[in-house]
Amino acid sequence: MADVISSLSSQRKIFLSDKVGQFTESVIRDMTRQAMLHGAVNLAQGFPDFSAPAEIKEAARAAIDSDVNQYAITWGAKSLRNAVARQMGVWQGLSVDPEKEVTVCCGSTEAMISTLLAVCNAGDEVVIFEPFYENYGPDAVLSGARPRFVKLRPPAGDEGEWTFDEKELRAAFDRHTKAIILNTPNNPTGKVFTRPELELIRDLCVEFDVLAITDEIYEHILFDGVEHISIASLEGMRERTVTINGMSKTYSVTGWRVGWAVAPEKITNAIRKVHDFLTVGSPSAVAGGGGGGAELAGGILCEADGGIPSAAGSFDSCAGRGGVPMFSSTGRVLRDDGCFEIWI
Ligand SMILES: Cc1ncc(COP(=O)(O)O)c(C=O)c1O
Repeated sequence: MADVISSLSSQRKIFLSDKVGQFTESVIRDMTRQAMLHGAVNLAQGFPDFSAPAEIKEAARAAIDSDVNQYAITWGAKSLRNAVARQMGVWQGLSVDPEKEVTVCCGSTEAMISTLLAVCNAGDEVVIFEPFYENYGPDAVLSGARPRFVKLRPPAGDEGEWTFDEKELRAAFDRHTKAIILNTPNNPTGKVFTRPELELIRDLCVEFDVLAITDEIYEHILFDGVEHISIASLEGMRERTVTINGMSKTYSVTGWRVGWAVAPEKITNAIRKVHDFLTVGSPSAVAGGGGGGAELAGGILCEADGGIPSAAGSFDSCAGRGGVPMFSSTGRVLRDDGCFEIWI
């Protein structure tokens, strides 16, 4: 055996895939560990600083007490899917079939990679605005796609806005383009894409027959009367959009790992297959598996008239510390005074 081992040592396999060599470990998560190690303020990882709403905590407790401890239905508890569909109807005027078009995942993080794995082939290209939430790069690589980056340009002055160059965006689209990843409200710039910008993106998606995959996890973190628009609500986009969202930021439950992808039936079926073999399902007790809990969560999700109680509490506490939260009408961090890190 020793002989075999020594003869092999010169021609050893590297037990790593080529794919993992194309990206580093997460800078965000590394910075978090460093911050904990050194007792530093963590500006890297975004989690809200307020308690989760009492109703959803109670629902999760009740679910565990009643032994909702086993596998969830792979694509998510019916009550949570219903709540997601209702929410998209109330806030974006979209009609969503919870039976056929919603997949509950382990956070929007998993919804994104499951979607890309479900739609991309080797050689496909995915357009990504940069700077971008760091997961999108590795997600594209893992799914075999090649990222094509388009620059978001910083505001020229105090009153300016983050913009992109129309020609540069158009140049990133060609016959290899499978999808564009959109993130609005945007991490890390704070930009909220306007209707004309979304219409421009829509026109390119239609012209080049491209899918929009839109991460809207900060949908409710809006200020100055800025309007969040889901690109799926634009004419011609419903059938070519995957809308990704989750509970993490809105309800201050980043550790629960509950997110979802909403897509037309055919794409949903593919996402559900990938999601199943990646994770089987989201944690059942916190993802509406208790039924009653999900209905409560659904009630909160559907509260359109201004109220996400705990989030509002957070904004107050932010303001109390002199903070101005980040998603302004111009898509800029208005003041550098302590609220940015709460949300990103
Ligand atoms: C743009 C964006 N998308 C997704 C996530 C992760 O969300 P989730 O907890 O639902 O996986 C984050 C977290 O910071 C984010 O900033």
